[in-house]
Amino acid sequence: IEPIQIAIDGPAGAGKSTVAKEVARRLGYLYIDTGAMYRALTCLALEKNVSLFDEQALTNLAHNSTINLVQKEERLHVFVENIEVTEAIRSPLVSSHVSQVAAVAGVRMIMVEQQRAMARSQSVVMDGRDIGSHVLPFAQIKIFLTASIEERARRRYLEMTAKGIPVNEEVLKEEIQRRDEQDASREVSPLVRAEDASILDTTGLEIEAVIQIILDLTARRG
Ligand code: C5P
Repeated sequence: IEPIQIAIDGPAGAGKSTVAKEVARRLGYLYIDTGAMYRALTCLALEKNVSLFDEQALTNLAHNSTINLVQKEERLHVFVENIEVTEAIRSPLVSSHVSQVAAVAGVRMIMVEQQRAMARSQSVVMDGRDIGSHVLPFAQIKIFLTASIEERARRRYLEMTAKGIPVNEEVLKEEIQRRDEQDASREVSPLVRAEDASILDTTGLEIEAVIQIILDLTARRG
């Protein structure tokens, strides 16, 4: 049987990972958080003092490093060179630099190749910015998940404070906005809705409602 691909794209803080992870769990598919891959590379570059303006150095780093996503129980663990960076990749420092790293064409080529390889042999739910438009253009299900900027900032704020990370909601909103602008305006595979993606505006929707909509779409079309 042919593997099923569910592509979920959208701006920062739209709830992609929460929803994608749960849809994957219920369907027994593999969840692939592509943002975590760009974050992990950014983390490594910052740690190794690789200039984020040096595209060749970043590409080499992507080429020579091993990023692993490992699902253990309910959680997705992220490793770079066998060192766990699950928490570190969510830091404000990484969040504010990741778009710069993700804009490098060479870096994207390497990441996209790995993402496609993971989706070749098994059914997946993959979330990111360019999944439906570029990574998995033949995905059976494509969703463009979005929500108002206020709601996205609010959700991020609650998520961070729940983890005990002190943040300012206004600063968070600006950071999200700036990241969206950077992601949507870059030359290589920008954040864009694939023509054949269903738009799902989650403003005011419960997570469970969003999950059900995606499961329904999958049951009908998959
Ligand atoms: O999804 P998340 O917010 O963790 O993604 C972090 C960043 O990684 C995004 O802001 C974007 O710059 C980059 N990214 C990307 N393409 C993807 C996934 C993430 O460029 N498919």
